[in-house]
Parts: sequence; structure tokens; C-alpha cells
Amino acid sequence: MPDTPIPAPGERTVADVMSHPVVTAQPAETVADAAQRMRDRRVGSVVVIDHDDRAIGILTERDMIRLAAAGSDASSAKVSEWMTGDPDTIGPEVEARAAFATLAEHGYRHIPVVENAGTGEKLVGIVSMRDLMRVAMIQPASAQAQDIPKGLEGVVVADTTVGDVRGLEGFYHYREYSAVDLAKSRPLEDVWYLMFKGRLPETLADREAFAADVNPRRVIPEAVAEVLPAIARAGDTFIPLDALRTSISQYGATLGFRASHDVDDATLRDNALSTCAVTPTLICALWRLRQGLEPVAPHPTLRYAANYLYMMQGTEPTEEQAAAVEKYLISTIDHGFNASTFTARVITSTGADLGAAVVGAIGALSGPLHGGAPSRALQMLDEIGTADRAEPWLRAAVERGDRLMGFGHRVYKTDDPRSLMLREVADNLGGDKMELARHIETTAVKVLEELKPGRRLYTNVEFYAGIVMDRCGIPPELFTPTFAASRMIGWCTHVLEQAADNRLIRPSAQYVGPPPPQPVPPIS
Ligand SMILES: CC(C)(COP(=O)(O)OP(=O)(O)OC[C@H]1O[C@@H](n2cnc3c(N)ncnc32)[C@H](O)[C@@H]1OP(=O)(O)O)[C@@H](O)C(=O)NCCC(=O)NCCS
Repeated sequence: MPDTPIPAPGERTVADVMSHPVVTAQPAETVADAAQRMRDRRVGSVVVIDHDDRAIGILTERDMIRLAAAGSDASSAKVSEWMTGDPDTIGPEVEARAAFATLAEHGYRHIPVVENAGTGEKLVGIVSMRDLMRVAMIQPASAQAQDIPKGLEGVVVADTTVGDVRGLEGFYHYREYSAVDLAKSRPLEDVWYLMFKGRLPETLADREAFAADVNPRRVIPEAVAEVLPAIARAGDTFIPLDALRTSISQYGATLGFRASHDVDDATLRDNALSTCAVTPTLICALWRLRQGLEPVAPHPTLRYAANYLYMMQGTEPTEEQAAAVEKYLISTIDHGFNASTFTARVITSTGADLGAAVVGAIGALSGPLHGGAPSRALQMLDEIGTADRAEPWLRAAVERGDRLMGFGHRVYKTDDPRSLMLREVADNLGGDKMELARHIETTAVKVLEELKPGRRLYTNVEFYAGIVMDRCGIPPELFTPTFAASRMIGWCTHVLEQAADNRLIRPSAQYVGPPPPQPVPPIS
């Protein structure tokens, strides 16, 4: 452990905040036994000790996740195989704030506390990031000032088994599978199954049972159908995402969704399944009503993507169109802790109902910096019009300080894998926009490299998404709602994960205004 500053008088030390006695495990025990003890004692880690009670390792919840991801059997795996050996330790006399800084720096979440570090060490406690943060929170702002990047870029705020995005590699995954591989090899319902159940359907019977559960839930309940015309016709301009969030609110109320805090996992799953199933039907019904058309009832046998196009257009799509839209939908189900997913998790962390969480998420998605870009990207294509106009148009836009829609990403600093896949899909669909789009992509990347050097700006999912959807007959107003339909599955998966192991998400901000307390002035 690094040098330990002597605590100032009155300063709290590790001894004040650590947990003890420590929950321990033996190296030869099975991981399942150790995990059971962690659950029983409600702790996030166990310290592995030898016969002399010396800390020789630490086994945490994260190790359990690694083990599960590797497909290993916890009932035969030994603690010694999965623990982090020879862990760093800390002395009980260390100042809590210094300990906090050390844990944050190393990315540790727990660290064993030992007396006489180095000489006949004795395990006396364990201290977690959470324990230390409680102390950090009661320090004056200047003492806890940390460099939190604006927009929380790179800040890890949770553990998840839903999936991840590796921005530098241009790779993302759902559970343990590459999302692009899933999009190329499985129907959407299989991926939905994977998200909700944690594994892919293994047999056709699994798949059929899931469809039998989901398909009847596509139908809009009568009490919601009655109010849809008013929602669809509200306002001079139709904003489909606004209409969707209003109707989802109505849907949750009609089905009697209750606070996630008060319902069991099975009920919450049931709410989630129904909401994901009905979302495409709501989108299409709202759209058609606004066009003065009758809604089309869900098709009894068509799969998700084909049924979506059918309910929107009133005729069955070609196989090619359904397959193209299905790939897009699968590729947008989940994508790390994006703004809308984080929103859904924050709302769930308050114990609110699933409807509240996904309505909030739809609100976050409606912003152009998140989900509102595909129609704007297509609009840009239309405005540019011809290849010869591309370079001057793009250059002038960037020089004006405009953002090129469909370019740049918070996490990807290389090609967005979704964009690569959708480019292929769009290529196969053909059409007059494709050649121009390829030219604009190459030109924009070149212009951005020149005018925004080092920012690593490439196409994101939204650039080719618009072209694919346009080619499949989806109107631009429905581009973002289509994204919302598939992302609903991702949001709900996160809601379920958050609710299963909840703690209120309640961060802090650093106050940077005029120093308080100022006298309250009288009104003049
Ligand atoms: C997606 C996005 C919001 C990510 O933003 P971010 O991680 O916060 O990136 P920043 O806003 O910090 O941008 C970093 C720099 O790159 C520039 N930049 C980022 N995206 C750009 C774009 N699409 N066009 C032009 N410049 C862009 C910014 O102007 C900034 O330049 P600066 O350093 O001179 O100020 C951003 O790239 C964007 O606005 N893209 C266009 C909208 C879009 O396609 N959204 C869909 C996302 S899937």
C-alpha cells in the first residue's frame, strides 16, 4: 500500500468506516459456497485467508460475473481459481479520504484492512468504496473535488451483464454474443429472449413458446385504443415520440403497473414483456391515425419486423425488406449506458414503475444528440443532392460549427460496427441514394479529419439507418420511433437488472456558484 498520511485530528480513518468482522473464504472452497455466504451476509466480496488468517486473495461479485460469462460451474470451481491473489491491503489508521483516492485510482471496490502490514499482518476489516464515499460526501466540496469529466464520459456507474461497448475496438455485444453476429444469424425474438432470459432459445420449441407468450400482447387494450385518436391528433405538428410516450403512459396505467419497489420479479417481467410487444403496434396505430387511416391489427403469425412493416403499411413487406429492418432493429436493442438507458435505470432506482422508467427513456431518446439523428442524416443527403456539392456543403457546415448528423460518437473512436453492418444492408437493398451516401461518407470523414483533427469522427449507426429505413418504406417521421421500439427491449432489460439489485442512484454535483450564505436581499 502507498504511503499513508497521518490523519489530522478529527479526521475519519479507515477503522471508523470499515466493516468487521470480515466475511472470509478458504481457497479450497467452491465458488458456490463462497457466493452463498456473500448472499447470506449481504456483502459484495469475501476475503480469502490462509491457515494463519492472512489475506491471500479477494473474491468479488465481479469474479462471479466473470465465472458465469466463462460458462464455468460455480459448484465445482475453486475460490483459489477465481480470486484476485495477493491483494493490496490498507491499514486501519489511514485517513478515509486518502483511502478513497487510492481505491478510486486503482479501480478497487473493496480492499482488506490489515494491522501491521508487512509484519505478521492481521486481517481486521474490509472497506468498500461505498463506505468511503459516505465519508467523502460529508467533506467540504473542496476536499472531494474530483475531476469528473463533463458529460460523465468514461465514468463507470454500474455493473451490468446486459452487454458492453468497446469503443476503441469498434465492437459491442449483448450478453456474451457479438450484437452484429446476432443480427446476422438470429430473428429479433431470439435476441429479445436472450436479453430477458440471459440465454438464447435452444430449441424451436423454446422459440415457439416465446412467440406464443409475446404475440397476444401485441394487441392494444381497448381502453388505450379509445384514447389513441386524441393523442395522435394533438398539436399542429405530429411528434411521434411524444405521442408514443403519452400512449405508453396510458398503457401502463391501464394495465395497472405498480412501483417496481412493490412488485416481484415475475410481475415486472410481465410488465416488460407486454410493453415491448405493444410498442410497435402503438407506433403504427398513432402514425396511421394521424394520416387519417385506420390502424392495422397485428398479424397473427408474422414475426416482429415483418409485422411492424405490415401494421405500418397495411401490406405484407417483401422478405428482403423485413430482413433488412430486422437487422437494424436487432442492432439497436442495446448499447451500453447511453443517455436513455441510464435514464431508465435512474428512474427504476427510485422504485418507480416500469412505465415511468421507459417513458423517461423515450424523453431522453427524443433529443437529436441521441436518437433524433437518422431523419436529419437523410435530410442532409437530400440537401446536398449531388456528389459534386458534397465537399463545399460539408466544409461550410463544419466551419459554421454545425454537427454533421450521423457522424461522431461518444464511445466509438473508430468505425461504428452498426454503421458497417447497415452499410452492407443498404448496399444490398440498392437504390439511388446509396452511391451518394458512400460519397458523402468518404468526403465527410476527410473534411472532419482536416477541420476537427484528432477527434476521430466517423459515421455512427444513424447515417445508414435512415437509408435502410427509407428503402423499406418507413417514413422519416418514424425513424426514431422505430429505434425506440427495439431499444424498448434494451431499456426493459436494464430496468429488470436494476430492480433485481437496486440502490437509489443519487450522485452529487460540485457547487461552483457565488459563495453562500449571502444575505437574502429585500425586493426593490
Ligand atoms: C454523438 C455526439 C453527440 C457525441 O458527442 P460528444 O462525445 O459529446 O462529442 P463532443 O461534443 O465532445 O465533440 C468533440 C468534438 O468533435 C466535434 N464533433 C463531434 N461530432 C461532430 C459532428 N457530427 N460533426 C462535426 N463535429 C463534430 C465537436 O464539435 C467537438 O469539437 P471541438 O473539440 O472543436 O469542440 C456528437 O458526435 C454529435 O453531435 N453527432 C451528431 C449527432 C448524431 O449523429 N447523433 C447520433 C448519435 S448515435
